[in-house]
Amino acid sequence: MRYGHFDDDRREYVITRPDTPVPWINYLGTEGYFGIVSNTAGGYSWHRDARLRRLTRYRYNNVPPDTGGRYLYLRDDITGQYWSPSWQPTQTVLDEYECRHGLSYTVIGSASGGIRASTLYFVPRGETLEVWRLTVTNERARHAELSVFSSVEFALWDAQDDATNFQRNYSTGEVEVDPGNGVIYHKTEYRERRDHFAYFACSEPLAGFDTQREAFLGPYRGFDRPLAVERGRASGSIAHGWAPHGAHHVRLSLAPGETKEVIFLLGYWENPRDAKFEAPGVINKAMVRPVIERWLQPSTVAAGFADLTAFWDELLTVLTVDTPDEDTNRMVNIWNAYQCLVTFNMSRSVSLFETGISRGMGFRDSCQDLLGSVQLAPERARERIIDLAATQFADGGAYHQYQPLTKTGNDAIGSGFNDDPLWLVLGVAAYLKETGDTTVLGERVPFSDGGEATLYDHLERSVRYTIDRTGPHGLPLIGRADWNDCLNLNCFSQSPGESFQTAENRAGGVAESVFIAGLFTLAAREFAAIADLAGRPEDADGYRADAEKMAAVTAEHGWDGEWFLRAYDHFGKPVGSSRNAEGQIFIEPQGMCVMGGIGIFPDAGGQEGPGGRSVPLDRGSTGGPARGGEQGPPEAGSAPTLATRALASVRERLATPHGIMLLQPAFTRYHSELGEISSYPPGYKENASVFCHTNPWVMIASAMVGDGDGAFDYYKRINPSAREALSEVHRCEPYVYAQMIAGRDAPTHGEAKNSWLTGTAAWNFVAITQWILGIRPELSGLRVAPVLPATWPGYTATRRFRGATYSITVRRGQPGESRLLADGELVEGTLVPLAAPGATVRVEVVLPPGERDGGRDRTGEENGGYGETAACVRDG
Ligand code: GLC
Ligand code: GLC
Repeated sequence: MRYGHFDDDRREYVITRPDTPVPWINYLGTEGYFGIVSNTAGGYSWHRDARLRRLTRYRYNNVPPDTGGRYLYLRDDITGQYWSPSWQPTQTVLDEYECRHGLSYTVIGSASGGIRASTLYFVPRGETLEVWRLTVTNERARHAELSVFSSVEFALWDAQDDATNFQRNYSTGEVEVDPGNGVIYHKTEYRERRDHFAYFACSEPLAGFDTQREAFLGPYRGFDRPLAVERGRASGSIAHGWAPHGAHHVRLSLAPGETKEVIFLLGYWENPRDAKFEAPGVINKAMVRPVIERWLQPSTVAAGFADLTAFWDELLTVLTVDTPDEDTNRMVNIWNAYQCLVTFNMSRSVSLFETGISRGMGFRDSCQDLLGSVQLAPERARERIIDLAATQFADGGAYHQYQPLTKTGNDAIGSGFNDDPLWLVLGVAAYLKETGDTTVLGERVPFSDGGEATLYDHLERSVRYTIDRTGPHGLPLIGRADWNDCLNLNCFSQSPGESFQTAENRAGGVAESVFIAGLFTLAAREFAAIADLAGRPEDADGYRADAEKMAAVTAEHGWDGEWFLRAYDHFGKPVGSSRNAEGQIFIEPQGMCVMGGIGIFPDAGGQEGPGGRSVPLDRGSTGGPARGGEQGPPEAGSAPTLATRALASVRERLATPHGIMLLQPAFTRYHSELGEISSYPPGYKENASVFCHTNPWVMIASAMVGDGDGAFDYYKRINPSAREALSEVHRCEPYVYAQMIAGRDAPTHGEAKNSWLTGTAAWNFVAITQWILGIRPELSGLRVAPVLPATWPGYTATRRFRGATYSITVRRGQPGESRLLADGELVEGTLVPLAAPGATVRVEVVLPPGERDGGRDRTGEENGGYGETAACVRDG
């Protein structure tokens, strides 16, 4: 069943009933001022940092859920009846209801008793304020006398302190109301060290206001029946301590058929330190007043909204696709790209599952977010890369998280997650491939523990960090955890409630991660290509050799017989092995080892198994003309390799109709030697849910071995739009990915949680656009190497890349036919050379009809694939 529908022309999801299974949210803001807004106007706002600069208060896990937000009330002043045009918080039954979540804006519209109301919420580009534009129409046959009340609950800036430190906070709250224009100013702590305040303004003359929450609501009342609204009169309260609030009261008199627009602004402002006051204790409003006056004008609001729409129009033309699959088109062209940018902005900090308080920017998370967003925001990606590198230590390790406002590492979590530094290499590689901006490598970036070095040097230290930390099998030591934050092999926690992330690490010189081995192999190759680019061929050769060595070690000690092992534990025992009773197979190394190029090709002579040829001996990039054999994925019917066997095991053991589970069999009891992973009930989170972030790795691996059907099948299983029809099972928003979908072992199999902020967004974008559709930015050009499902006749796409526009057509030809033309010229292989900025290049790809597109010749090309893996050369 559905709770709404997509409106692709307007790039909106239209929710048609307010009682969605959980609140379905959207994000406001694109730069520094942000908010989340639910389909019933719930949510909150902040400037830059959701914890330290929180504008409005929000109570997670409230009852009813999602109470508190950007509320408007309408009141019929003749009957005294009142309602919320956004349904919440009064929950009055509405005659019509519709919420349209669009790109960085939301419109909630409804009709009740002949009064139609619609509110547009958005943050104009370049401003630190949000607009609520309310439009009210009287559809009755008679005159309507209405009151409009607005309501926001101010937070006292530090949201953590706001929720805990009442002995202080009940006394600090301060406001001001401008008698001239009725603007409500929230200025708690402005008297001392803050130079910022919030304001709440209204375009219409006020009939009244309240700034003390309890005066507005009345004693022991909730937002569902504020006393001021019930009696149709605000009390003009001024908050001294307790709970500063913003509420306006406006009277509207509407003739039949008449429409009126009322604009509310909620904003944030910083004054210069030496110009904070206009009179003792009184905010200097000289600078903010013109901004408020301007944005209270309907014409400014209309232009600001048009500007926001144009911003997204422009961004989304970076890549547009037209494929035979509607769910693919919708996600690639609209929602997945949008989610990538939102996730880039928020990391994992603010959603309905992340409170904005507990996690800042994650190091590995933000590095991966770059992969899906760099094409949308290259300059900001560059900045982010520098910020991330600046939380590294001189030994290459990194703070696991940092606070966006201060940009300093989070000491409470610290470091020692041994995969972290490697993701920086992937993030920078993606940036270089997209932009070609090699100057970034020369940027000097400090270390958290003193000193500084070039970014190139930071990356080298990232790679060395793994090389310097290997265990008994020569595999990378896992440290506190690798990508799987919950696989804590050195932790052995027995104290209830203790954080697995920070619990004392047993000095662990033994526990090794096969996942990091795969990631290292990939990252070391990416770094080698960067070294070449930087004119350091000796480095390149060295790191390529390290990658090969790690791949060989992995093939030997990281292979269980039918799939890649996950790890070795603190005692040197295998994890993710057929020898284990539970947790025999994990998804992560199956995807990542193949992405690292491990075990893709059979040994010379077709031998398989450990010792099977797993790494290219020749990168095939500098060697000029192709060596003997053709490149690209192995041909159909060729001998199984570690890669194809691992992927077959994934399909047999981990795939469900709702996506691929993280592991099987699920852990049924707590294993202290494994850590948090077994603390989750079977089927949830890291313990065998469909942890969506990992699924695209298997899609990519499948594409790399030429299995377009398999890759696309997995893609569809978790595509939110494709799951829309199952909304009552899936329950989260059908327009964005969720972190996880409950696995087969869970009683709620198929139910999604933790929507929005997840690496799933970036990786799915990469999997579908770069590996299945095959449009892949590389250092020296744009590769177009589709690996499509057999039934697809082709697709068309447009990609803006390094200033040129590539207009791509992919179609099926005759058996054996396979070629790529750029502006009519035959290109050898699949790499379209860089065109001059401003140029338009017509790219035509002809694929043979049939099952495996990936076998196309890809000879003699530089850096052909993930960490050059597609440049692997098979012995001819
Ligand atoms: C969450 C974390 C991410 C981690 C993943 C698996 O998504 O944000 O860093 O890799 O969980 O544990
Ligand atoms: C990751 C995991 C989560 C774990 C958390 C610890 O986000 O997804 O399950 O509890 O890390 O901070």
